[in-house]
Amino acid sequence: MWPLLVKSADLAHIGALFCKYRPFDQDMTQDLQNKPNERRLFIKSYGCQMNVYDSGRMADVLGPHGFAAVEGPEGADMVILNTCHIREKASEKVYSELGRLRALKEKRARDGKDTIIAVAGCVAQAEGEEIMARAPIVDMVFGPQTYHRLPEMVARIDQGETHVLDTDFPVEDKFDNLSAVGAPRTVAAFLTIQEGCDKFCTFCVVPYTRGAEFSRSLSRVLDEAQRLVDGGARELTLLGQNVNAYHGDNGKGGTTDLGELCRRLSEIEGLERIRYTTSHPRDMDDSLIEAHRDLPKLMPYLHLPIQSGSNAILQTMNRQHNAKTYIKLVERIRAARPDIALSSDFIVGFPGETDQDFEDTLALVREVTYAQAYSFKYSPRPGTPGADMETQIDEAVKSERLARLQALLNEQQIAFNEACNATRMSVLFEKPGRFDGQLIGRSPYLQSVHVEAPEHLIGTLEEVEIVAVKPNSLTGHRLGATGSAAKASAHGA
Ligand code: 5AD
Ligand code: SF4
Repeated sequence: MWPLLVKSADLAHIGALFCKYRPFDQDMTQDLQNKPNERRLFIKSYGCQMNVYDSGRMADVLGPHGFAAVEGPEGADMVILNTCHIREKASEKVYSELGRLRALKEKRARDGKDTIIAVAGCVAQAEGEEIMARAPIVDMVFGPQTYHRLPEMVARIDQGETHVLDTDFPVEDKFDNLSAVGAPRTVAAFLTIQEGCDKFCTFCVVPYTRGAEFSRSLSRVLDEAQRLVDGGARELTLLGQNVNAYHGDNGKGGTTDLGELCRRLSEIEGLERIRYTTSHPRDMDDSLIEAHRDLPKLMPYLHLPIQSGSNAILQTMNRQHNAKTYIKLVERIRAARPDIALSSDFIVGFPGETDQDFEDTLALVREVTYAQAYSFKYSPRPGTPGADMETQIDEAVKSERLARLQALLNEQQIAFNEACNATRMSVLFEKPGRFDGQLIGRSPYLQSVHVEAPEHLIGTLEEVEIVAVKPNSLTGHRLGATGSAAKASAHGA
């Protein structure tokens, strides 16, 4: 699995996601004016939520070394592209961006200013030195496991090195070498608890770019959660490529599973909501299902990718589950938490996929019914078994299947949203909306909800009545404060 951020057939949708993570504001500009020696740092995140989290940590690492975050590449002394390698398009976008940065770097050089260009993340891990050969403006390439060494890498550039490469999987734990999360985060914060994957689905690069499965210890996760809550977070999304395979050291010679971790996090005062992504059906154990039954703070939304509804394709994908076991699992989860909203990932046109295999996927979607989902055309990734299979599917067939699947998934998403009309639900206000006096929050089911409300309510939970529904968002009216004092009603417990 792979945690997702954007609802788009192209996960590589580029956004300056760093801005969302830590908004650039007036104070930072003033800070820079007050400290003329401070360098400006722009980080652009591609792909998944873990990259957004990592980008924030990179800024944390460089902050004490004289770098301040800015919201665009113009005027930046250092630009880091934190990249995604999941599909071909995702990788190619990095090279287009490097083309644009080249002009910027050359213009600054004419003005006598240096610009460090760095490529980080999964493309860096997979392509390493090749990146510098293809884009000579790149000064630095480093993978997802080495960004704690950034100050050292920057020092090497400052001393005159032109090409710094660090794509090891170091023995030391990256997380041990990262200082405590510093600055206050957004109301809804990400927290990486697990990285890497040992599942080796035959289409996926993650086991190669992120490495073997690794879980952070219980005490480290609890400490970071507390700091995020102290800094203003009210909702935490626990991240991992295989998040429900979490088995963090419990400090007593054993391990803690994700269900138990959610129980421990639930005890943190001020933390109102817990989510996690992305899960593998194989690792959805009783402890976690019971946590969904028992914990009001654990939100009734679950991203549980199946990829295909055909048993033959699931087997060639090496998914270690079949359509029937997945459906049985969904039944157990729904028995534990009847209102849970389900989401999934689908790949169409995996090698060997027949018309019947694809019909099986449509049938599974009709049987399960999703609140929303992501779907992609299969993209052969070099080095993965799928790329060498001889039964590759024609692009036109993939496109046609994707359109049919997305039409069905959209229908289900609209139906799910419409069913919310005229109901009441708790909304956590996260940020100002597009219009004056409007805030945007999230429902328990992860829908965006637009509500007329004053800005000081950002960071609070309120009970809202849904009065209008669109395919991608809801509109609500305030009914009154809920929050910690009235959580039971907010979550229907
Ligand atoms: N081609 C298309 N989609 C892919 N995904 C992962 N690898 C590929 C690939 N090679 C999708 C899967 C995964 C999601 C994050 O991206 O559906 O769950
Ligand atoms: Fe998920 Fe499979 Fe990729 Fe692992 S190999 S991250 S389980 S899709």
